[in-house]
Amino acid sequence: MATHNLLLVPGDGIGPEVMGEVKKLIAYMNANGMGRFETEEAMCGGCAIDAHGVPITDADMERAKATDAILFGAAGGPKWDKVAYEIRPEAGILRLRKDLQLYANLRPAVCFPALAASSSLKPEVVEGLDIMILRELTGGVYFGEPKTITDLGNGQKRAIDTQIYDTYEIERIGRVAFELARKRRNKVTSMEKRNVMKTGVLWNEVMTALHKREYSDVEFEHQLADSGGMQLVRWPKQFDVIVCDNLFGDMLSDIAAMLTGSLGMLPSASLGEINPKTKKRHAMYEPVHGSAPDIAGKGLANPIAMIASFGMALRYSFDALKEADLIDAAIANVLASGLRTADIKGDGKAASTSEMGDAIIAEFGKLAKAA
Ligand code: NAD
Ligand code: IPM
Ligand code: MN
Repeated sequence: MATHNLLLVPGDGIGPEVMGEVKKLIAYMNANGMGRFETEEAMCGGCAIDAHGVPITDADMERAKATDAILFGAAGGPKWDKVAYEIRPEAGILRLRKDLQLYANLRPAVCFPALAASSSLKPEVVEGLDIMILRELTGGVYFGEPKTITDLGNGQKRAIDTQIYDTYEIERIGRVAFELARKRRNKVTSMEKRNVMKTGVLWNEVMTALHKREYSDVEFEHQLADSGGMQLVRWPKQFDVIVCDNLFGDMLSDIAAMLTGSLGMLPSASLGEINPKTKKRHAMYEPVHGSAPDIAGKGLANPIAMIASFGMALRYSFDALKEADLIDAAIANVLASGLRTADIKGDGKAASTSEMGDAIIAEFGKLAKAA
């Protein structure tokens, strides 16, 4: 059995709490011959600022580059609101994404049958929902220069953010979208705002050409991102893979989270290019949610997004498809049994973070033995 290295980066707020449940799952798998995972820990976010004065150290960046996969909890929180912009907690996550070139961010939104009533939308709108939001993660307005605030000297300031996309960046994320669609329901919706943005015009042009040239077997459509957002809450089952830029993807994935019942349900995978020589690629797996300062330290956080993110690591970095499927099945069964953390609770007592984690691990063990 191959040894897999994992760099665990719990971060701030509820990050360490939800990561704790994944650590238990990894220990269970190691103890039961279901993998050989070797873990190390690194700091990113506010905790790293407190310890080292930067959101991530160069030494931890080197460990991130060397590992097979990174599992990330969450970073940020009000404690670091006054920290200089350049070294704010979120800058650590952005450095990981940019320096490792994790350009493809897969954010699947799946509504488990047991949670159809937990969504803010009608059950028939979300029941059976299974869509993939594919977010470009290393370009666009997040990283474009100039990015400045200038004092104009007349009591006015001017803030500038810059959205930049080159053909190759659009093409490579487009390829991921079409390849994913071929293994799903064979449909890609590209979202941009070509009616107001030059980057939207180029995005549309490059996606259209790529589709025509290499992927004409895949059903393909464009939607303007604003009305696309409306369609996402009106009738989300029309979508299979949605591909969009960094900022639209950030917003659309938080919206999609509520279709599934809670932000605490959405995992993600951020993937780089496969190195043709080593056949390996950089990858980071993290929940879509943040550090949830309002519930941190109370044992209330839903660990499902974090556990499912580990499931995505099994699927996309370690080719452990059977175990990945078992994790998804264990989550579905535990939800079907009625166990709920506070964020997805209907009536009755809410389970704590560790009660939910323990139940998923127990169910995972049961399913694995029966398989
Ligand atoms: P958030 O995602 O942390 O929280 C939004 C709401 O969802 C809160 O009410 C929170 O309690 C709830 N929530 C989130 N995750 C939950 C879970 N697992 N279980 C139950 N409820 C959950 O977003 P925010 O409050 O806007 O941001 C807080 C901080 O986190 C900010 O500093 C932000 O920059 C940061 N952030 C970090 C990441 C990341 O590390 N990848 C992602 C998003 C936000
Ligand atoms: C996310 C977060 C991050 C983003 C922040 C924390 C930098 O909101 O992963 O969705 O905007 O990408
Ligand atoms: Mn976000």
